[in-house]
Amino acid sequence: MSKIIPTTQEQGEWPERWKTLDHGIRVGRYIDREFLDLEFEKLWSKTWQVAARVDAIPDVNDFITYDIGDQSVFLVRTSEDSIKAYHNVCPHRGTALTLDQGSFEHGNIICPFHGWRWNTEGENQYVLERHEFRGGKLCNSDVALKSLPCEEYAGFVFINFDRDCGPFEEYIAPVKKLLDDCIIKDMRHYWWKKIPVPSNWKAAQEAFFEGYHVPATHPQLETAAADFIYGETIEDEYEAYGHHSVDYESFANGHGRFYAGRASNYQGNVKRFGPDKDPVDAMADRLQLLVDGMDAQVLQHDVDLLRSLRGKLGEDDNLGAEYVKVLYSDAAKVNRPMPEAKPEILSQWGGMIYLFPNVLVFPQAGNAMIYRAMPDPEDPNKGTFEIFSTRTLPEDAPRERATCEVVTEPNSPDQVYLIPRQDLGNLERIQKGLRSKSMRQIWLASHNEKLILNMHQELDKYVQSP
Ligand code: FES
Ligand SMILES: [Fe+2]
Repeated sequence: MSKIIPTTQEQGEWPERWKTLDHGIRVGRYIDREFLDLEFEKLWSKTWQVAARVDAIPDVNDFITYDIGDQSVFLVRTSEDSIKAYHNVCPHRGTALTLDQGSFEHGNIICPFHGWRWNTEGENQYVLERHEFRGGKLCNSDVALKSLPCEEYAGFVFINFDRDCGPFEEYIAPVKKLLDDCIIKDMRHYWWKKIPVPSNWKAAQEAFFEGYHVPATHPQLETAAADFIYGETIEDEYEAYGHHSVDYESFANGHGRFYAGRASNYQGNVKRFGPDKDPVDAMADRLQLLVDGMDAQVLQHDVDLLRSLRGKLGEDDNLGAEYVKVLYSDAAKVNRPMPEAKPEILSQWGGMIYLFPNVLVFPQAGNAMIYRAMPDPEDPNKGTFEIFSTRTLPEDAPRERATCEVVTEPNSPDQVYLIPRQDLGNLERIQKGLRSKSMRQIWLASHNEKLILNMHQELDKYVQSP
């Protein structure tokens, strides 16, 4: 394809194949190398973005590397309550100062090539044969490390490559209360995996923007609706379908959320999971599918607590409410933080909070699953998908440093749990289809897929900026 020179939409020259329509998205945004390059130039270099979870650098002098496109940054904890971000480059001859994760011994950042050294404030401390540089007049400021705007919020470290970026407070404002309410800042590392995916980063994250895919992609989770789709039985219990009780909300700055409402676990809606079963068993069996299928959001301990209610409920007891009580009293015993048990917070269970451009948070009472979709530096048809399973911990439990396991075989049940494997398993087909000559645009459902549209409209503000 010949090089497309993007111009502003006002001039009417924005390429047809990159358009966001009110009912769909043109496929060039997912498959064109030029669009990927434009995203690096106009989006990733300008937007606030999550570089890491804070528990990846829990101790002073801990560092972690963040790569996006051809740019690399490292974050370092400079004190108990401060983190700094630097461009990952030695000012001498350009060597990257860090790879992956680690700790700077005694706070010394040492370039492995010729041994120049900095402290964690980015100040140069040592240059071998210093007199040879700049006629013996090399200033420390000539060779200081270059920092980037960096903000810690909700247990995330956000960075921005643009020194003139807008205030972080403004960027995060639309989702701030939700992140606070769901105590995302208290969520600690349980496990973290990085999975190569055969699709554009946007297609990967959009696989999780709605509950509309659940009956077809995860038939085990919505048996009634799945039976309808796959034709084994025709069951027209519209209200019983979990995804019909999901509500979607688009926010400013491209953020959004969905929440489960009536389908939320705290509602104890078990009718559709086995009307003939003991309600506790029905709900526990349902949640067990999430434990076995994800080991995130709902953990085994939660299901064990739920099962402990068996035989203890009276006729008038509400199962969801009793489940909440037992979870909260168990947490209180060990001083484990929990969100306030208000209906509007509990209804976020089973839902999702989206942080533009690429992070999704799925909160539950004392757990959260977090996804991050990353673009490949060169290929619009590839990306990386990360899953962070997090939870709150009892006050005196040891805090483990978050480390990442790199998945080598995304289709292996030994490496990726069933539910994300079902979702990510669609990506190869999606990306393949998006490249079909017959495909001009994807179609978006006005309600179920509104977060996708909102995301692209925000993305346009970046990629179409002068
Ligand atoms: S490249 Fe870093 S000290 Fe020479
Ligand atoms: Fe899914």
